[in-house]
Amino acid sequence: MTDLTGKTALVTGASRGIGRAIAERLASDGARVAVHYGSNEAAAKETVAAIESAGGQAFSVRADLGVDGDVDTLFDGLTAGLAGDPLDILVNNAAIMIYEATLPDATPEQFERLFAVNVRAPFFIAQRTLPLLADGGRIINISSGVTWFATPQTVYAMTKGALNAFARSAANSLGSRGITVNTISPGVTDTDMNGWLHETDDAAPGIAALTALERVGRGPDIADTVAFLASADGRWVTGQTLEVNGGLFLGPKSQAW
Ligand SMILES: NC(=O)c1ccc[n+]([C@@H]2O[C@H](COP(=O)([O-])OP(=O)(O)OC[C@H]3O[C@@H](n4cnc5c(N)ncnc54)[C@H](OP(=O)(O)O)[C@@H]3O)[C@@H](O)[C@H]2O)c1
Repeated sequence: MTDLTGKTALVTGASRGIGRAIAERLASDGARVAVHYGSNEAAAKETVAAIESAGGQAFSVRADLGVDGDVDTLFDGLTAGLAGDPLDILVNNAAIMIYEATLPDATPEQFERLFAVNVRAPFFIAQRTLPLLADGGRIINISSGVTWFATPQTVYAMTKGALNAFARSAANSLGSRGITVNTISPGVTDTDMNGWLHETDDAAPGIAALTALERVGRGPDIADTVAFLASADGRWVTGQTLEVNGGLFLGPKSQAW
């Protein structure tokens, strides 16, 4: 357990999936967490209720990302919830996948939507966070293993590559304030984004077979690494991309040769 007592955190896309697991973990470590969501108010309320029933502190903030004024809406809710406190931890987690946005089939509208939600929004959220962010603060972006393994979803992969590039340069710019900027890159994780894992009997075992630790990832697997980077223990790690995937695609397991 890491100690985040007295800290504040914003986790985007914290109503469901990996973001919810991150919000719950940071709150259980003592942070007061802004649980951001786009449209699923019921899920955001569930996240806040789960945090509070475990003895933690949280408030929800609604903002549809990828539309004009999105960051203004988010920061109106965030600053009201923070009530004058600085922000210590920003986790840019919210993102969308558009499965049809492949090289042959992607439309300009899909391309722009993916970049608006997955790249433009986290960039300008980070920019707007800077005056609020305490020295020694943390920015953690959630990217994806598709930055290094091939996928038909080319546009989604490109958005995550942009996020990886952001962290390295931002880390160098913000180091003088003691702020670290890192990227966490999950492998295949069981969330709503990956409904296909439950559509056929062999999908999840197929991913497990490609993974050294022989299972599909779960939200808390990612959240625990976020907690490390957010904590004092992570103070000397910056500008890095951490692959958090149970050993996805490390190579064949049977050494037949
Ligand atoms: N699952 C995986 O295997 C996997 C692998 C690698 C990387 N990732 C990355 O991990 C992060 C979390 O993914 P996930 O699988 O947990 O996703 P998810 O289950 O689909 O949840 C997405 C979250 O983001 C929010 N969100 C999505 N679009 C939004 C928008 N336009 N405006 C505001 N909020 C929006 C959703 O809010 P609402 O509830 O309001 O809709 C929800 O809280 C993403 O960055 C994803 O790219 C996931």
